Amino acid sequence: MDLKQYVTIVPDWPKQGIVFKDITTLMDNGEAYKFATDEIVKYAKEKEIDLVVGPEARGFIIGCPVAYALGVGFAPVRKPGKLPRETIQVEYGLEYGKDALTIHKDAIKPGQRVLITDDLLATGGTIEATIKLVEELGGVVAGIAFLIELSYLEGRKKLDGYDILTLMEY
Ligand code: PRP
Ligand code: ADE
Repeated sequence: MDLKQYVTIVPDWPKQGIVFKDITTLMDNGEAYKFATDEIVKYAKEKEIDLVVGPEARGFIIGCPVAYALGVGFAPVRKPGKLPRETIQVEYGLEYGKDALTIHKDAIKPGQRVLITDDLLATGGTIEATIKLVEELGGVVAGIAFLIELSYLEGRKKLDGYDILTLMEY
């Protein structure tokens, strides 16, 4: 299936010069959403995943159906002030700003094999921060799956040595 036909390109959003890849038009098409999810599930099955981890908000949309299909749990990575119990935190930069991410301290057991999911790899800051959180808790990043890679931003350079799946490239 050609997934790109379901992605809507929105120029100059959320800022002048950013070409936004809107995946909501992929998610609201049942066949496209299922196809994309199944491709990631196939990849994850080869990696013996114990847990899926995804950053808010779009990492949840990708990761939760994958976790359900694999029969494993999902641990949310969230912006500061959202998780109610003890967390660890990492700062990171974005294509259009900067922020921090947190995870519950007890979300991952040491040695668990983790699949990280997100909709899109841009500068790589979000996933670099997510990797740091997973590894600080003793998790093993067994794979990272995205719908989209913006290869012109070279985010992959920040993820050197990790196993990556991307379903679409711009
Ligand atoms: C977007 C996107 C990725 C991240 C990619 O999330 O969903 O998580 O940016 O950019 P990067 O590779 O440069 O880090 P955003 O922070 O806009 O949050 P959202 O998912 O809540 O919309
Ligand atoms: N997150 C970071 N950069 C993005 C882009 N260009 N389109 C959609 N989501 C993004």
